[in-house]
Amino acid sequence: MSVRIAPSLLSADFARLAEEVADVQRGGADLLHLDIMDGCFVPNLTFGPPVVRRLAARCGIPLDAHLMVCKPDALLAELAGAGVARVAIHVEVAHHLHRSLEAIRQRGMAAGVAINPATSLHSLEDALPFADFLLVMSVNPGFGGQRFIPESVAKVARLRTMCAGREVDITVDGGVGPDNAAALAAAGATTLVAGSAVFGAEDRGLAIAELRRRANGERP
Ligand code: DX5
Ligand code: ZN
Repeated sequence: MSVRIAPSLLSADFARLAEEVADVQRGGADLLHLDIMDGCFVPNLTFGPPVVRRLAARCGIPLDAHLMVCKPDALLAELAGAGVARVAIHVEVAHHLHRSLEAIRQRGMAAGVAINPATSLHSLEDALPFADFLLVMSVNPGFGGQRFIPESVAKVARLRTMCAGREVDITVDGGVGPDNAAALAAAGATTLVAGSAVFGAEDRGLAIAELRRRANGERP
C-alpha cells in the first residue's frame, strides 16, 4: 500500500491560505491536514470551523482535521457541515472516547484517535474497534517545525503490531521529513503529515514527491 502524504497547513502562509492549498494540491498531496488548536489543550491558537468551511470550498482533496482542543465534541457538527473527511481527537482529553468516536462516525466522517509522545499505547487498546485511524504524535503538539522524537518509530511499530488483523491507517505527525519517512513507513505508518518539510520547501510538489519516494522505500 502506498503511503499517503498530508501536508499540514500550520506551516503555510496564513495570509495566502487559498493559494497555499492550491499549491500542495497541484503538487500531489493526498490529504490536507488541518491543525485546530484552542489555546487550552495546547499553548497556541490557529483557526476553527469558519475558516475550514471556506477552505473546503477551494480544496479538492480530503480534509484531515486534527483537534488539539479541550472540548472536541463541540466542533464535530460544524466540521461535518464543512465537509471534513476525517477527524482525530486526542486520547488525553477524551473523557468518553467511545461516545466521541461514534459521534464522528455518525456524522459521516472517519474517526481517529491521536496520542501524544509520552502517552502509553495501552490507552488506545480498547478504542481500536471504534477507530478508523490512529494518529501518533512524534513531537509535542502545538507548533510546527519541531524536532522529530526518534522513539516514535518504535512506537509506530508497536502500534502496528497491536493492530494486527485490522486495516487501520496509522498517521504520524510532527517533524516528519525525508530523513525519517522510510523508517516510519517500514514501521507501519500509512499516512505521513508534514508541515515544514512541505511548506518550507520552495517547490512543494518536489517535496511531496520526495517524501513519497522515501516512504515507498526508494533511496535518496
Ligand atoms: C503539531 C501539528 C503538526 C505540525 C507538523 O502540533 O499537529 O501537524 O503542523 O508540522 P511539522 O511537520 O513542521 O512538524
Ligand atoms: Zn497535526
